[in-house]
Parts: sequence; C-alpha cells; structure tokens
Amino acid sequence: MRYVVALTGCSGIQYGIRLLEELDGKRELIISEMGKKVLDEETGLTMEDLEANAEEVYDDDDLFAPPASGSHRFDAMIICPCTQSTMAKLAAGIADTLITRAASVTLKERRKLILVPRETPLSVIMLENELRLAKAGAVILPASPAFYAEPRSVDDMVNFVVGKILDQVGQEHELFKRWE
Ligand SMILES: Cc1cc2nc3c(=O)[nH]c(=O)nc-3n(C[C@H](O)[C@H](O)[C@H](O)COP(=O)(O)O)c2cc1C
Repeated sequence: MRYVVALTGCSGIQYGIRLLEELDGKRELIISEMGKKVLDEETGLTMEDLEANAEEVYDDDDLFAPPASGSHRFDAMIICPCTQSTMAKLAAGIADTLITRAASVTLKERRKLILVPRETPLSVIMLENELRLAKAGAVILPASPAFYAEPRSVDDMVNFVVGKILDQVGQEHELFKRWE
C-alpha cells in the first residue's frame, strides 16, 4: 500500500509520529509549516527526526511534488492530526498547499481520505465543515481514545487512535485490546 501522510499544526502531533512508525507500506510525508512548529513545541523533534519513517518527504509549498497530481498513484491519504484550518480549506475546495491539494486530489479520485481532528469543543462552522467532508467521502476520525481498552499510559491512548486509523486502511495490528 502507498500512503500520503500529512501532519498539520495541531496539538496531538504524537498521533502522527506513531502512525508513521506503525504504517506498513510506502509513506510519503508532508508536514505543514505550523506542523513543524507544533512538532518542536510538543516533542522537541524536528522534521529530520521523522524522515527515517518515510520513504519520501515533500515540502508543503511544493505544488510540483507528485501527490499534487491525480496521476500519481497512492491508496490513501491520512491527515493526522488535522487542524480546523486545514479542514476548512478542504471543505471549501481550497488547494493552495501540497497538503490541501493532495487531499483535494484524493477526494476527486475517490480514494480514501482520513482526517484526524483533535479540536474540542467544536463550533457550528467546524461541525459543518466536517459534515461536508464526510458527505464528500472523507472519514472523520477524531482523536478520541476509548477507555474500554483500559489504557494505562499516554502511549496506550495514542496507540488506540492510531489503531483505529490502521483499521480504516485494513492493516492488522495489536495496538489496543478489542472489545470481546
Ligand atoms: C501549540 C499549538 C497548538 C495548536 N493546536 C491546534 C489544534 O489542536 N487544533 C487546531 O485546529 N489548531 C491548532 N492550532 C492552530 C493552528 O496551528 C493554526 O490554525 C494554523 O494556521 C494551522 O495551519 P496548518 O493547518 O497549515 O497546519 C495550534 C497552534 C499552536 C501554536
């Protein structure tokens, strides 16, 4: 499987880092400018630290990069975490960065687009944007760890959300205990 994975400037950047570690297949990574700043703020890591877990890395302002074109083959795009700003651009069809253009391409090519927002609470505008994107075919997968999986650490909670993303792309995993 081939994936485009984007990290935007959202709290919860750890979800994106763990996703890159766990995802099997080819990973094409894009981090927004605010994503890089939040990465530093929340983890002290840099873009270079994440590059080991990606086969390709593109700049968010490089609209000549392969994921900007529908002719570039990939199976799914995952924006994790996804800011409400990026969500709003996608809902409005704005494609002025590589992340928003690749997501717009993913929708038009009817490929899987998984959006992982963290924001809470949500305004009516945010809810309407998410609804619009869900109607257009995107999977809205909020970063909401469950407690039936009996998390004992922050790591367990991150793993739960990442496991739910892997469920969406059909990848086997043992990141959380399933309800039986
Ligand atoms: C430390 C920090 C945490 C942030 N967390 C969030 C968040 O959880 N959700 C969100 O929608 N925006 C959050 N923002 C605001 C976004 O970074 C801002 O709207 C930015 O323009 C998003 O750009 P991007 O979508 O291109 O990454 C945060 C900003 C900072 C500085």
